[in-house]
Amino acid sequence: MIEKHEKIEKSATLLLILSFLVVTIGGLVEIAPLFYLQNTIEKVKGMRPYTPLELAGRNIYIREGCYLCHSQMIRPFRDEVERYGHYSLAAESMYDHPFQWGSKRTGPDLARVGNRYSDAWHRQHLKNPQSVVPESVMPRYAFLADTPLRTDDAAMHLKTNAAIGVPYTADQIANATADMIAQGDADSETAEALAARYPKAQIRDFDGNPKRLTEMDALIAYLQMLGTLVDFSSYKAEENLR
Ligand code: HEC
Repeated sequence: MIEKHEKIEKSATLLLILSFLVVTIGGLVEIAPLFYLQNTIEKVKGMRPYTPLELAGRNIYIREGCYLCHSQMIRPFRDEVERYGHYSLAAESMYDHPFQWGSKRTGPDLARVGNRYSDAWHRQHLKNPQSVVPESVMPRYAFLADTPLRTDDAAMHLKTNAAIGVPYTADQIANATADMIAQGDADSETAEALAARYPKAQIRDFDGNPKRLTEMDALIAYLQMLGTLVDFSSYKAEENLR
């Protein structure tokens, strides 16, 4: 046996051909299933595509570079789970294009920041972080409260996401602008239809000014949704901790 191996090791060409063969088989076994498997992400209860207002908030989050200081990826380590809550599941970023896991934590992880603070806290913090946390190095985003939110392009954002696999329905796309406006107003006549299209959608004025829909409304709607969609009652983080 060992003599046969010696033969391979002494001939560069033979070694190259056989190595190539082994790598090809390995590659096929790993890569080929990805072409016919429908989904490699474990299904979870509660995950849904973002509402038009949340999606707009997410776009602002990316535009303003929040991801440069904040991650959205809780790792399965005890210290992280005790601080932030259940570690992140793959399914929680399945509708994120691109995902917002981040690679730098100058500020805390935001994967489960939803419902942790009041809207008023977020408004104050985004306008002037140092007024809430004196030693904070987070920049001020007060201008978001004075910037009207663009609503006419909502359907296009949904369509773009649908084109890359987010399962927005024709109904959701047709009502995108109406839903975006309705989510910022709890008294809106179409609030119920919006809630039916997007379970667990939080519908209210987020920026403290019910008369206007601003970029602040969208960003806070997005932050308040983060980590609140998945039903964790059937998961036990403790069992998988390192
Ligand atoms: C230069 C880095 C930096 C950038 C950019 C930044 N942040 Fe922060 N952020 C921080 C730091 C540091 C903290 C912790 C101190 C504090 O609460 O202000 C923080 C805290 C937060 C918190 C509170 C989290 C918690 O669990 O207490 C939220 C929410 C937040 N940031 C949202 C945002 C959003 C939204 C943006 C983009 C519009 C943003 N941040 C941009 C550094 C940053």
